[in-house]
Amino acid sequence: MQLSLLAALIALAPATLSIPASPVVDANLPGSTANVAGLDAVAKAAGKRYLGTATDNNELSNPQYTAILEAPQMFGQLTAENSMKWDATEPEQGVFTFAQGDQIANLARSRGMLLRGHNCVWHQQLPNWVTAGNFNAQQLSAIVQNHCSTLVGHYKGQVSPPASQPLYMPPQDKSDKHAILEPLNDDGSFRQDVFFNTLGSSYIATALRAAKAADPNAHVYINDFNIEGTGAKATAMKNLVRTLKSQGVPIDGIGLQGHFIVGEVPTTLVQNMQEFAALGVEVAFTELDVRMTLPETAALLEQQKRDFQTVVSACQAVSACVGITIWDWTDKFSFVPSTFPGQGAATPWDQNFVKKPAFDGIVAGF
Ligand code: XIL
Repeated sequence: MQLSLLAALIALAPATLSIPASPVVDANLPGSTANVAGLDAVAKAAGKRYLGTATDNNELSNPQYTAILEAPQMFGQLTAENSMKWDATEPEQGVFTFAQGDQIANLARSRGMLLRGHNCVWHQQLPNWVTAGNFNAQQLSAIVQNHCSTLVGHYKGQVSPPASQPLYMPPQDKSDKHAILEPLNDDGSFRQDVFFNTLGSSYIATALRAAKAADPNAHVYINDFNIEGTGAKATAMKNLVRTLKSQGVPIDGIGLQGHFIVGEVPTTLVQNMQEFAALGVEVAFTELDVRMTLPETAALLEQQKRDFQTVVSACQAVSACVGITIWDWTDKFSFVPSTFPGQGAATPWDQNFVKKPAFDGIVAGF
């Protein structure tokens, strides 16, 4: 399902009232003062692989949005916010629909951006036929295998460099796929979803193997939230990585989502990433945003700037941290207000596409 965005209903106004086309609601709040070409340029200059963003198909018809999304060197990587998820890509069993996902993949390729797949198995945004199909273990395992294989196979090599076009990424920078999304609960136990309840944790290996077989050059990831700092859930994820590696299951990376709250960024980011790296996996911040309780204030925006800087500098401090993806770059299209009522303003650009202090925080972090 696509995020249903609140469309502002503008009633017909009396002719005497002038309504600015693009009201600057944040006129009294601080903005960015950074003078840089683009965030990806800054990230690459600092030795990181990319600074990217999530994006969604319905946003691409907004010219103000695409002007910044596609600005040279602003973003070096895209993640489809919804259009590569299971409900979007296999809405009926065996019927695959890639048009929406392809639009994002094609945009990334046309702009020389990396593409992260997102995702092959998750407990949300599943079509009914998966959740209510009453499949037995053998059937559901085959369904997971086929879904991951077909999805990752479809995007195989789409962002990899044709030999004749060295403009694109070097071979080690092929597309990352999040094979598995959110398999753990906060206490470190496995999430009780249709996959775990039917297959136990074996679905994780099935999905990772299917993804890796479909595109051996892709880096296969497990991606979760609340594993950015040390703690029970991060420990469980490290144990999962150890187990998978001991069983010969492919696992290239762990995605730290990074949906943070202003003033509450964990203090153990660097140590935690180093512990993952010691297990032989790379890491990335895959869905970074820093939300606040609305209304935004100058003080909150300044703290948010420091929080973005903290996260970026933590990635910068750990060589295994390959890059950072913001979970969409403007408050206009952030998923936060609809998911966390009363909270928002979580991204580096405001609703009018004006850079906030958080933009400077990102720049300063590299
Ligand atoms: C969110 C999207 O941003 C929304 O548009 C959608 O309605 C729900 O999913 N963790 C994830 C993402 O891994 O896939 C989620 O994306 C946000 C939380």
